[in-house]
Amino acid sequence: MNRFYDDDYFQRVVIPSLFTRSNRVEQLVLPMLDKDFFSKKNSVPPFLDGLLWKKGESTPDEGNSVFLKDYGERGVSSDGVQNLAKRVYFSAVTPELYPKYSTKVEGFFDQLLADTNAGKPLMAKYVETYWELYWNLHLGIIEDCEKQGEDITCEDDLYKGCIPPQVKEIGNSFVACLAEADVLSKNFRQNYENVREHQDCLTDWVSGAVTAMETRIHDDITNIDDEETFVYYWLKNREGAEFGNEDVTFECYHNFVALSQWGHTIYRVMEALIDDDVVKSSFDALKAQPNCGDTLGDGDTFTPLDRFVMDIFRTRSPNGGSLSSQSAGAKAAPTFGVILTTHLHKEISEDEIHWSDPGVFNPDRYIDAPTSDKIDEKLCGDNSNFNECPFPHQDFRTKDGTDTVITNNGFGTVYSKDKPVCDTAGYAPFGFGYRRCPGEQFTIEVIKQFLKTVCDRNICFTRDCNTDADDIQDIPIAPGTIIQDDICFGYNDVVNGGCQPNNPN
Ligand code: HEM
Repeated sequence: MNRFYDDDYFQRVVIPSLFTRSNRVEQLVLPMLDKDFFSKKNSVPPFLDGLLWKKGESTPDEGNSVFLKDYGERGVSSDGVQNLAKRVYFSAVTPELYPKYSTKVEGFFDQLLADTNAGKPLMAKYVETYWELYWNLHLGIIEDCEKQGEDITCEDDLYKGCIPPQVKEIGNSFVACLAEADVLSKNFRQNYENVREHQDCLTDWVSGAVTAMETRIHDDITNIDDEETFVYYWLKNREGAEFGNEDVTFECYHNFVALSQWGHTIYRVMEALIDDDVVKSSFDALKAQPNCGDTLGDGDTFTPLDRFVMDIFRTRSPNGGSLSSQSAGAKAAPTFGVILTTHLHKEISEDEIHWSDPGVFNPDRYIDAPTSDKIDEKLCGDNSNFNECPFPHQDFRTKDGTDTVITNNGFGTVYSKDKPVCDTAGYAPFGFGYRRCPGEQFTIEVIKQFLKTVCDRNICFTRDCNTDADDIQDIPIAPGTIIQDDICFGYNDVVNGGCQPNNPN
């Protein structure tokens, strides 16, 4: 068989990857990508389309994600509010709603950082239980079908109340493909084909659960468990054609990309707490404060712990860059293959045009940094310095009982009116303006919870683990990232010093 002509994998994956090129941008003055030139649509490298869509090519009618749509295609609410899909998406992960999910996140870290895991490489443990947190947050389903002792297949009715092994497998393979990103490797191909094989199972399982929740909402018989899931809020706050059931289903597994970055971030945090003395002493200062420094001072927007986590994100940037295709309207549109542009987050955040000390870890920089609520009409009106701001300021009120106002500023940054975010191109780890990450504040809370558990339990990190060097695994953790699972946790020994695997306290 001639692989180039007859092999579906070569046609759909290898050849498109050979014709995909990427430009890198390292400087940005405003936190906004020119929407007439850079487009989110078609910015997924085409060789990855088969991971998302059953037909193996981009078919948004089967389900679509906010992430893959251009600003103008995200719907308008009945009262004229633009960028509707983004607001509906955000409605499930606002800072106001975080307390609904916090017990799940806290329980996850309590289990991960339990005494029994001390001294063992931590990321393997993380990956073992991560999918339970993932599906618990999305659908309120936590049980592992395998733990119930059933040999469950996707056709089986029993799989509805628990997570089938195929669903975990597809998740791991999906993340492995994104992490590996080398389409010529055997590993990539195996994982790609694994995703393709279980795709129907995943879609059936998720869409079954989405429809069941939709019915409970319709019949007004939802319970507390429903109200602690992303899907509940997407269904409650959607309008018109935005967020149809197939889109909700698609977002549930498109989020494989988004939430995989938590594991990557946790690894970078542990690394910083071992290798970087400035980060370490900054964290020691937080440990000496009540609640690990997570208390808001008078007039402050961010707590000391918020600011610590934010500067970890700025200086480590687990998400390397925002990827765009060139808009159809761009003059230099490519005629052959695909040209993508990456706006590099770490490089942009550490550009000296934004800060006097760009390369220094300094959480206090956010005490005075610009926030999203300050980019108002005066800055973005006709007579302003920022004439190019193209977004009308509009409010969207949630219908889920929390009455949260989801607003946007001139850069298009979508945020909760009462809880602004830092909004300058000098803080780029979560992207820019109208394309900025809606999961940002949720993510900050998750990483804060990890650190608060570390504080509470007097935990420290070390590479001196109870494992032979030969047993250290490589773990595909997030897009473009395979980490060495070489960090474990122990306990600060106040008497003898050092980081001990057994809890001396
Ligand atoms: C460490 C964690 C995370 C990082 C570093 C991160 C980073 C980013 C970045 C840089 C973008 C902009 C991409 C672009 O413009 O090309 C983005 C977009 C997005 N993120 Fe996240 N993200 C994280 C976690 C999450 C989580 C937990 C969720 C969901 C709960 C989420 C949902 C999204 C969505 C839906 C978009 C698309 C927004 C749009 O196009 O308007 N992310 N994220």
